[in-house]
Parts: sequence; structure tokens; C-alpha cells
Amino acid sequence: MLNKNVKSIILAAGKGTRMKSDMPKVLHTIFNKPLLGYVIEAVNNTDLVSENFVIVGHEAEKVEKFVNDNYSNAKCILQSPQLGTGDAVNKAAPFINGFDGYVIVVCGDTPLITAETLKNFVEFHDNNEADLTVMSAIFDNPKNYGRIIRDKNNRFVAIVEEKDASPEQKAVKEINAGIYCISWKSVHEAFNNLQNNNAQCEYYLTDIVKWSVEHNLKVQSYILDNKDEIFGINSKVQLAQATKILNKKSLIRLMEEGVQIVDPDSTYISPETTIGADTLILPNVYITGRNTIGTHCKIGPFSHIRDGAVIGNNVRIGNFVEIKKSTIKDNTNVSHLSYVGDSELGSKVNIGAGTITANYNPISKVKSKTIIKDGANTGSNSVLVAPVTINEMASVAAGSVITKDVEAYSLAVSRSPLKIIPEWVKRKIEQLSGGIK
Ligand code: UD1
Ligand code: CA
Repeated sequence: MLNKNVKSIILAAGKGTRMKSDMPKVLHTIFNKPLLGYVIEAVNNTDLVSENFVIVGHEAEKVEKFVNDNYSNAKCILQSPQLGTGDAVNKAAPFINGFDGYVIVVCGDTPLITAETLKNFVEFHDNNEADLTVMSAIFDNPKNYGRIIRDKNNRFVAIVEEKDASPEQKAVKEINAGIYCISWKSVHEAFNNLQNNNAQCEYYLTDIVKWSVEHNLKVQSYILDNKDEIFGINSKVQLAQATKILNKKSLIRLMEEGVQIVDPDSTYISPETTIGADTLILPNVYITGRNTIGTHCKIGPFSHIRDGAVIGNNVRIGNFVEIKKSTIKDNTNVSHLSYVGDSELGSKVNIGAGTITANYNPISKVKSKTIIKDGANTGSNSVLVAPVTINEMASVAAGSVITKDVEAYSLAVSRSPLKIIPEWVKRKIEQLSGGIK
């Protein structure tokens, strides 16, 4: 238990110029989830924070919509124009006026930060009864980060930005991770005293360190060992690197839980997917969103599971199969070239190659459900036009377009009758080889 309550301020107003994108930086995604989502969820998952303030600015409406649609305990505050990280935090000050607790400040572009680290960080602040704790890390290449400056007695006294640093300061390898824990009551005055007389003419959040030292407050750094977690995204190259880091972590967790992954280099599985032991994942599988997959399944090669799949045990999802928002029970096979969306498949169902659930009406924009009950099967190249139910043990003939429910144990066929014309080919050949000269 902490001694104080905690609120968070998440900085997400910047443009992200180096992304070279129409979209705000924090809405760029990893496994379909915006970077900002990862940060808000890490903060929420500490179970310490009662309220989050998200500072929005560049393309504020879009960022605000994402936050409001997904996080009920987060409130957006507009910062316009964007005058620096210190100015950004100051925009939240009126909402926490008189707050006698801890405020953690996190950047919306560091999606790899974990709840566990944030929790340890706040506990470290609390245990030491500090006024200000800054998360830091030791980087071999500290370029572009603010440096942690210490005095002769090794006391942490300031943060200096790269652009303002002397050659001597640039040589410092301890960097500012951009994550802060602030005892608001003792430090809030600092925000009324920020100056912008620096290389970027911005109000720097980092200047609260110097102010706090000058006011004899307890300032400390928390050196993080796992540097990956504070990896900040400023470009699309870094976005791809962060995706790799997150994916690797996810695959290692799954393998440790007993999942066999043949080729981790070509396999992408979102951190919110759980998979049972002894399931085999073949190369080039891409799984995003939140899914549950059972044990002894065989997935891939080349399968795409998009979100909301609940897959039982001993299920086969084969090559060029896409699954979206569907439940699939035990011992069912969807082996090749199929699309299963908004569907419920029972157990021991066999989906023939090239079966498509036509779940979307582009005119009404309505998505409908396909239900396929236990033991039913579909022939190759069949189209199930939702809403539709294929009942127990029913059979859909290859090439059929199914627009009505099929009763249990029935066969549904919709095809034009087959016509065979004997000797047609032979006659053609004879005609071409001179018969009608
Ligand atoms: C900042 C720190 C630097 C640290 C680095 C860690 C300052 C002055 N510098 O630098 O010491 O090493 O983070 O990644 O704080 N933002 C706003 N409003 C603004 C400006 C920025 O909301 O007016 C947001 C951005 O959207 C971003 C975050 O604040 O999410 C950090 O801003 P950025 O410009 O990326 O700071 P850095 O230069 O990386
Ligand atoms: Ca940055």
C-alpha cells in the first residue's frame, strides 16, 4: 500500500514530425493498437492510478476520440499551441489543484513500458519519501536524450537536453527516460517558474529537477535495467523496431508456456493472445488483437487471426485462412483458403477449402452471423451468406451459395445442373485439323 493517491499525466500533444505522417504519432499502431493505448493500459494495470489526464494538441480530435472511446478513466486536456513538455504538464495543473498525492508523467510514445515497472517506480518514490523521482537508464549511445547531471558528490542536480548540453555533459551516459513521479504538493510551484530560454525556446518539464534541488527537495533517479521498456518512438524505423521487441517478448512468453513456434522470425502474435500448450504455430502466422487459442491446435502456415477469436482444443487453422471475431469449438478444421468472420463453429465441423462466410453487407453496412453446428461440413468453394445457420451434421455441397438455414442432417446444394457433352473435344479437334476445309 502506498502512502498517497496517484494520478497520471500522459503527454500526447506533440506532432511527431519525424513520423512523416498525416496521422498523429501516438495513434500509430503496433498489432492494431495505438501507441497511446499501450501507455494508458500500462498505467491502468498498475492498479495504483485513479485518474489519467491525456494532454492532446496536434490532431486533438482524433486522439481524443480514441481515448474517449476506449478509456473511461482518462480525460483529455487540450494544449494549443504546444510550447514544450513543461507547458504540457502545466495544462493539467488546474485539474489537480490542491492534490496531495503523486503525479506520474509518462509520454504517449513509449509503448513498451510495463505496468510492473511503473508500479516499482512509484513504490520506490513512495518508500524513499521523495519529492521527485526521474526514471533513467544508462545508454551506450545517449544521443538525443536529456542527460542526468550530477554534482561532485554524485547528487542528481539537473537534466540537460542534448541541444543545450556542453561537450562534457554530452559525454554523460545516464539519460532521462521521460517518466517522472512528482509529489504534487511540494513540486507544483515549479511549473509557475519554468522559463523557455533554451535552445528550443520551449518550457521544459525537465527543469523541475533544478527547481526542486534549489528548493531543497528530495530528488532522485530510478535507474531502469531493462532499457527496451523506455524505447521512445519518433520515426517509422523505430515503430518497426518496437514491434519486433514487443513481438519477441510475446513469442518467448508463449514458448515458455509450451507453445511450439517453428519460426519466430516470421511469426507475429499479439501480447493479448493466449495459446495452450502443445499448439503448433507454423511459419508466417499473423495474429493481432485479443484471442484465446486452446491446446494441441495447428495454426498456419500463412494464417491470419485478426481479433476476437476464441478457438478450442485440437483445432486446425490452415494456410491462407483468415479468422475474425469467431468462436471455434474443439476438433474443428478450417484447413485452407477460407474466411471465417463473425461466426460460431461447433465441434467436429469441417470447413472445405475456399469456404467464405459472407458476413458484411456493404450497402446497409451491417455485419451478420454465421452459425455452423457440431459435425456439419461445407464443401469447397461454398459461400455462406449471413445471417445463416447450418445445423448439426448438415452438409453443404461444394460450390453452393447458401442463403437459407440448413436443417440438421440435410444436404444443401445450389448449383446449375451438370451437363456432360460426349465427344465434344474430339469433334473440336477434328474441325480444327481440316474437317471443314
Ligand atoms: C524528452 C525530454 C528528454 C528525454 C526524452 C525521453 C524534455 C524537455 N525532454 O525529450 O529529456 O530524454 O523526452 O524520451 O522534456 N509533448 C507535448 N507537448 C509539447 C511537447 C511535447 O505533449 O508541447 C509530448 C510529445 O507528444 C511526446 C512527449 O511530450 O509524447 C515528449 O516530447 P518530445 O518532443 O518527444 O521530447 P524529447 O525531445 O524526446
Ligand atoms: Ca521523443
